[in-house]
Amino acid sequence: MDALVAPVSRPKGSVERLVRLAAADMAAVDALIRDRMDSPVLVIPALAEHLIEAGGKRLRPLLTVAAARLAGAKTEGHLKLAAAVEFIHTATLLHDDVVDGSERRRGKVAAHLIWGAASSVLVGDFLFARAFELMVETGSLPALGILARASRVIAEGEVMQLTGAHDMNLTEALYLQIISAKTAELFAAAAEAGATAANASPAAVAGLRDYGLKLGLAFQLVDDALDYGGVSEMLGKDAGDDFREGKATLPLILAIARSGPKEAAFWIRTIDRREQTEGDFKRARELVLGSGAVESTLQFAQDHAEEAKMALGLFPAGPWRDALYELADFAVSRAA
Ligand code: IPE
Ligand code: IPE
Ligand code: MG
Ligand code: MG
Repeated sequence: MDALVAPVSRPKGSVERLVRLAAADMAAVDALIRDRMDSPVLVIPALAEHLIEAGGKRLRPLLTVAAARLAGAKTEGHLKLAAAVEFIHTATLLHDDVVDGSERRRGKVAAHLIWGAASSVLVGDFLFARAFELMVETGSLPALGILARASRVIAEGEVMQLTGAHDMNLTEALYLQIISAKTAELFAAAAEAGATAANASPAAVAGLRDYGLKLGLAFQLVDDALDYGGVSEMLGKDAGDDFREGKATLPLILAIARSGPKEAAFWIRTIDRREQTEGDFKRARELVLGSGAVESTLQFAQDHAEEAKMALGLFPAGPWRDALYELADFAVSRAA
């Protein structure tokens, strides 16, 4: 089996502690998700179940729960927000797989290949709407504002990425702007909404938001590294999708910057001119790994995970803070 070349020493991690601590809350969140994905329009629960029953890591609702509990939540208001956060995430996955033309998600055939792109997009809209109903039920206008903003920013990020595809001159700065919007913003909002539901102080809300943002950046950086360095069976989705779509992710940006003239010609043909043939991904993968770009991307992810932990400095040590430290380590170690 292929493995990452991994000279960088990274902490091993798991989210076991967090999953254990959050078990009761997450059982309630799962029950809400199951209840609210239902609809008398039968294609909706069928399609939603296909994706939701496949699992997923549930990182974002875990983050909402942990943020609320770390901030001392006394009520259950954060549970509906956590379910809403997972619905928003699930909706973006349905839309994203249509946009990216991806064939696998969570170890299964992508929903749009079974029910068609139109149904997939519309069920994504349904899940977004369900998320907003849940938020309204909490009666928290600030939480509604946080997650509405995140939904808008994700859409902006996805459109930015789409229009930047096949652009070999895309800068690292623009790439960071894209992943902040399409991924990190929801992590940030998930934590911020949880803290808000717990009536945390402004400093605590800001600290948790910052943690979520840095964690989200680390998470997407690792995801982008795995698109070249990972194995499809472990990812539950196809490696190589980013290359085939000409997405200028950090591993590609760095590999191109480190190219000699022969490699440059390969990148111009496959990314700029979009002329890809069988075997090109294998070559791309060799070039990206050989240039050290995957390692650099993972190192950058680890830096962000450390910054995420530092953002929790204002909280006293305790089980929830430790669990969030572990989550930050996990975001990076899932690549090891
Ligand atoms: C996938 O997110 C989309 C990205 C931001 C890379 P996850 O890897 O958290 O997806 P699931 O929910 O666990 O399937
Ligand atoms: C994830 O982006 C989708 C959103 C964050 C909205 P990607 O397209 O990079 O992630 P995967 O590889 O499909 O999970
Ligand atoms: Mg995608
Ligand atoms: Mg995408």
